[in-house]
Amino acid sequence: MESVKVGLLGLGTVGGGTANVLQRNADEIARRAGREIQVVCASARDITRSRGCDVDTIRLTTDPMEVVCDPVVEIVVELIGGTTLALELVLKAIEQGKHVVTANKALIALHGNEIFAKANEKGVMVAFEAAVAGGIPIIKAIREGLTGNQINWLAGIINGTGNFILTEMRDKGRAFDDVLKEAQARGYAEADPTFDVEGIDAAHKLAILASIAFGIPLQFEKVFTEGIGNVAREDVVYAEELGYRIKHLGIARKTSQGVELRVHPTLIPEKRLIANVDGVMNAVLVDADAVGPTLYYGAGAGAEPTASAVVADVVDVVRMLTSDPENHVPHLAFQADALTDTTVLPIEAVVTAYYLRLCVDDKPGVLADIARLLADQEISIEALLQKEPAEDKQVVPVIILTQRVVERELNAAIASIEALDSVKGSATKIRLETLK
Ligand code: NDP
Ligand code: HSE
Repeated sequence: MESVKVGLLGLGTVGGGTANVLQRNADEIARRAGREIQVVCASARDITRSRGCDVDTIRLTTDPMEVVCDPVVEIVVELIGGTTLALELVLKAIEQGKHVVTANKALIALHGNEIFAKANEKGVMVAFEAAVAGGIPIIKAIREGLTGNQINWLAGIINGTGNFILTEMRDKGRAFDDVLKEAQARGYAEADPTFDVEGIDAAHKLAILASIAFGIPLQFEKVFTEGIGNVAREDVVYAEELGYRIKHLGIARKTSQGVELRVHPTLIPEKRLIANVDGVMNAVLVDADAVGPTLYYGAGAGAEPTASAVVADVVDVVRMLTSDPENHVPHLAFQADALTDTTVLPIEAVVTAYYLRLCVDDKPGVLADIARLLADQEISIEALLQKEPAEDKQVVPVIILTQRVVERELNAAIASIEALDSVKGSATKIRLETLK
């Protein structure tokens, strides 16, 4: 049977990795897919630069539209990134009846609803396994493996760069900027690394996960997003004294009021497996009604781990080339006309536990005042830690772990606590999840 012809848009970290994996494992992949898969053309901005892959048999061009419009190309693999040119190219490919594979979470999170609608009209697949958690087949696991379940919640470390930075800072005391530079050199970071650091990349991924978990449209704009930039070394140390690790989590939870969608640094009990996921590794914990909790772990970024997911999508497309388009696995797991408009809750309505760090005068009665203001909002204290004052300082750090409370009520208590004369500056607030 004739080989399936693929066009690659981008020959960077993931594009190069994809070309390598397809070439190195060609025989095995063909045995699995039932057809040979051949990359016939690829685009990059600079086609004179040597790549970490063999491009001898691939026609190179600087014009990505030429790849999309090449009549022999049946599957377009978008690995350029961004949401302008990438959107134009993907829509053009769909318009021409071509299947698309992409690793671009920003594109799917922001424009997925439109892209999938067009793809459904044309009966083509748009596959995006590599868009979430790098090499972990989490999309397939939720969309297909857990399809018999109602998903209650999921929580994941879904940005490799951020986890790499937090781990290196904690374990080796390295400086933030230094570790970020290393993540960029290793090809983990986004073209604009503020996406990693500020949690935007994780929010893109969470919007996608929530959509396939709960059957709701993609709603990136409703994800509450906080990055890792404000995680202070002292909070990491105090959290550890209390038996917790601070991880940057994406959390999606179905409640009776709606859906929580949030990305933020989170205290997790150190005995949880996910609290021990370090470096560029990602992990997603999914709690579902029939199976209970399941945990998915693997490399969250990097050339070949991501290529592994891209190639899996290409093989899925190849297997489907001869199948009935009406019976494809739905893009967002649920049939396109069966998505629901469940409310996404604002962050003030979220219910969780909290870590608070306050800087207070070292004098009697201060703790009693704070406890009273928390009690006024019916907030129970789970643990309290008061540190010694530093030499020649009259103020001490006080760390409080609260029980679960509605964020609005906690914010009200914090405002009254910060207004006390004995409390200096603002409180540090980090959400805490037991992930039971
Ligand atoms: P790179 O920057 O390494 O590669 C991008 C490629 O696209 C390069 O080959 C570049 O050309 C080409 N390119 C960029 N802009 C243009 C343009 N305007 N016209 C034509 N070609 C262009 O990015 P990555 O491989 O890291 O990421 C690609 C996608 O995969 C992104 O959507 C990213 O979010 C996603 N992703 C990345 C992961 C990773 O670990 N890096 C993991 C999971 C997903 P040239 O090489 O000449 O500069
Ligand atoms: N920049 C992303 C990360 C790439 O570090 O997780 C993988 O999506």
